[in-house]
Amino acid sequence: MRRLFYSMITSPHNEKLKEIRKLAARRRVRSTSGRFVAEGEDLLAAADLAGWEPVVRLCAAGSGLAGEEVAPELLASLSGLGSGCRTLAVYEERWVAEPMSLCVYLHGVHDPGNVGTVLRGAAAFGAACVALGPHCADPFSPKAVRASMGAIFEVPVARAGVEALPRPLIALAAGEGKALWEIRVHGGTKSPTLLIGSERDGLPDEILAAADHVAHIPIQTHSLNAAMAATIALYEISRMPPA
Ligand SMILES: C[S@@+](CC[C@H](N)C(=O)[O-])C[C@H]1O[C@@H](n2cnc3c(N)ncnc32)[C@H](O)[C@@H]1O
Repeated sequence: MRRLFYSMITSPHNEKLKEIRKLAARRRVRSTSGRFVAEGEDLLAAADLAGWEPVVRLCAAGSGLAGEEVAPELLASLSGLGSGCRTLAVYEERWVAEPMSLCVYLHGVHDPGNVGTVLRGAAAFGAACVALGPHCADPFSPKAVRASMGAIFEVPVARAGVEALPRPLIALAAGEGKALWEIRVHGGTKSPTLLIGSERDGLPDEILAAADHVAHIPIQTHSLNAAMAATIALYEISRMPPA
């Protein structure tokens, strides 16, 4: 009679677990391997729905979830969540070569939570791409992936300089240029690229100069957080009447 053996990962020195720890902790390891980690049932369900095949998929032993079983406390120790997790997976990163519009371009947005939240807003308003300029956080870092709430599997990401972005370019700058709704109403904004600057310094002068429009979201304080501004701008653009 054939006997079936089910193995479970129980050693912290297991090679897959070592790779996952490194991928989660270091941007350099992610960029050289081209792989990243997502954790939790909701994120993995979003990946499944979007047709992403994991390279490695692990689950807590006895959870009944898909994947290779790992001793639950060991899996929890890999998690970046305070509460641990019951499943995680490794995927190949996907980058598109050319940004498509409707596009959000981020310049110097350092905070991975903001990058992930921009992806979430981009998915909500049907943007075709999020393009990352210099000094942006890694969209495949664990914090960005979590903040994206699965949008990292839905919205293509590109590395791009401003010259490669689809026009028209609308630079978002607090208190500068026209109100964004005026630009929307007066046309010329069909599927633009929205340019968003860094949390501290905003957009540099050369990016403002390269833009076709400079616009602000009218507010009663000095400025919004970068991800909030991107989401409100996407909403404003989504209200454009069809061509
Ligand atoms: C926290 S803000 C940068 C604030 C920076 N100290 C400044 O004065 O530009 C980050 C980015 O969000 C966008 N942003 C924030 N508030 C905005 C507003 N009211 N209108 C348009 N864009 C805004 C801009 O792209 C800005 O570069």
